[in-house]
Amino acid sequence: MEISLKGKTAVVTGAAGGVGQVACEKFCEDGATVIGIDVDEARGAALTDRLRGRDFEFRLVSVASSDEVAELAEYVRGRFGALDVLLNNAAIVRGAPVLETTDEQWDAILDINLKGVFRMTRDLGVHMKGRRGSIINVASNAGLVGFENMSAYCASKGGVVQFTKACAMDFAPEVRVNAICPGVIDTAMPHAFVRDLPDEAAKAAAWANFENGHLLRRLAQPEEIVAMARFLASDAASFVTGAAISVDGGWVAQ
Ligand SMILES: NC(=O)c1ccc[n+]([C@@H]2O[C@H](COP(=O)([O-])OP(=O)(O)OC[C@H]3O[C@@H](n4cnc5c(N)ncnc54)[C@H](O)[C@@H]3O)[C@@H](O)[C@H]2O)c1
Repeated sequence: MEISLKGKTAVVTGAAGGVGQVACEKFCEDGATVIGIDVDEARGAALTDRLRGRDFEFRLVSVASSDEVAELAEYVRGRFGALDVLLNNAAIVRGAPVLETTDEQWDAILDINLKGVFRMTRDLGVHMKGRRGSIINVASNAGLVGFENMSAYCASKGGVVQFTKACAMDFAPEVRVNAICPGVIDTAMPHAFVRDLPDEAAKAAAWANFENGHLLRRLAQPEEIVAMARFLASDAASFVTGAAISVDGGWVAQ
């Protein structure tokens, strides 16, 4: 299927990360004008270099800051007038059993992964009203089933799935709102999770589970997740809204 985002404007959060970089690149290739935001200035600058000549701009914005998100929304309104595609992709993970999870860790994860999606959707969604726009939230298989040592992350991603469905109702019938629930992706994130675990046995068990938990017996490549984001962003997905779509190599089928 030919995907076209020609003439569309898009904002991607977590743009400097494994999935975000590929999303920015592919959205540009599909014809969109893209603003990518992230808190990682160095990787953002490297991405800007790589996408030189494309219709891409990087901005240093934290989805955890209401002020920065409000400023971004104002900037997007000034530059684009209206927004067609919002890919809420920024997130963090920590590996810790629930009994050892501190208030600070819980708050940080929920603030970025869930409230960040809310802030972006509220402040940028205003500029999508009246368009045939698409909001895509990157949730997780961890938003559908449990994972050991990941209670805060699972809670945040389960929240994103439910938030997606509620927003699909609030934004209907103009703007479509969907969630992608990936399996484990070959990016920095699963490595960060495993690194946090307390001992070598736990690290080895977690990694073996990541590799073997998918029916396809491998991790996903970012392009395989972005393929679904490109579809959902495009008019090809014109009758898809309120869905939480697994792109997880069969993880939750078991
Ligand atoms: N990698 C996996 O195994 C996996 C599995 C399921 C779902 N996901 C989801 O996919 C999405 C992309 O993850 P990834 O694998 O590319 O991870 P990643 O760590 O490579 O990228 C995440 C990006 O988010 C950015 N970020 C963190 N806090 C931010 C903030 N406050 N404001 C703006 N940006 C911020 C980081 O700097 C980073 O560039 C996330 O939502 C993640 O939860 C990942």
